Amino acid sequence: MENDILTLFKQCAEKVESELNSLGSVNYGETMGMGADGTPIKKIDEQAESTVVDLIKEKTDFSILSEEIGFVERDGEGTVILDPIDGTSNAVMGIPFYCVSLAYTEGSLKDTEVGYVKNLSTDVEYSGVSGKGSYVNGKPLKPVLGDEWNFSVYMGKEAHPDSFKIASKPRRVRSLGSAALEISMVAQGIFDLYYMKTFEQRRSLRITDIAAAYVILKEACGEIYDTNLDPIDMALDPKERKDVAAVHDDRVLEVL
Ligand code: IPD
Ligand code: CA
Repeated sequence: MENDILTLFKQCAEKVESELNSLGSVNYGETMGMGADGTPIKKIDEQAESTVVDLIKEKTDFSILSEEIGFVERDGEGTVILDPIDGTSNAVMGIPFYCVSLAYTEGSLKDTEVGYVKNLSTDVEYSGVSGKGSYVNGKPLKPVLGDEWNFSVYMGKEAHPDSFKIASKPRRVRSLGSAALEISMVAQGIFDLYYMKTFEQRRSLRITDIAAAYVILKEACGEIYDTNLDPIDMALDPKERKDVAAVHDDRVLEVL
């Protein structure tokens, strides 16, 4: 079943890519209303979401939890957790770092069985299936902790002061604006830590931002922790938000 779900997720991403090509990037930023998570919906989000939701409805009876429409209950046992565009601000600003993120669970975040993240600017694809490993462009993910660390840290005026302390520890730091991609890059070993902590709770991450990357990282032997440094879990609720630290090697947690 997991392979059928992954195939469907790939089809969804291909369809989003062709829809966005026909939309044209100058139209990405038009505001279309407010989403179920309480943030403004941009044209690019709406177009990508309706494309994926239509395809999932056509091919399955799964429920759908998506960033803009919220929870759509259907007869199937499982739920597809969708972020149609993670990194919307990047897409709107013309920064080529944004993705579609799709996951499948029959419970909460910790029960996620399948994850798929596709960088829509580079076509790099990450996938993970619970108990069966995770991959980048078909190659197994096996991150290794080197001597010089590279962190991805959420920055800006709403970042928690701890973020600036943590950013002073490693050899290199980046702040790239797509949690799904940045956590997938922890699974790849490009980043040794993804850290997102804010004093504005409305900026923290939603299950839709991290569900796919969660299984990709877990299958690469990593973990996403909450601010108490407990392994994270989240309900199927578009309004729940959490700060996170994601690592592929727990030794990195000593800097927190
Ligand atoms: C955003 C990205 C970003 C994170 C924000 C999220 P969106 O998701 O994941 O990296 O810092 O908190 O809202 O809005 O582009 O789906
Ligand atoms: Ca989004």
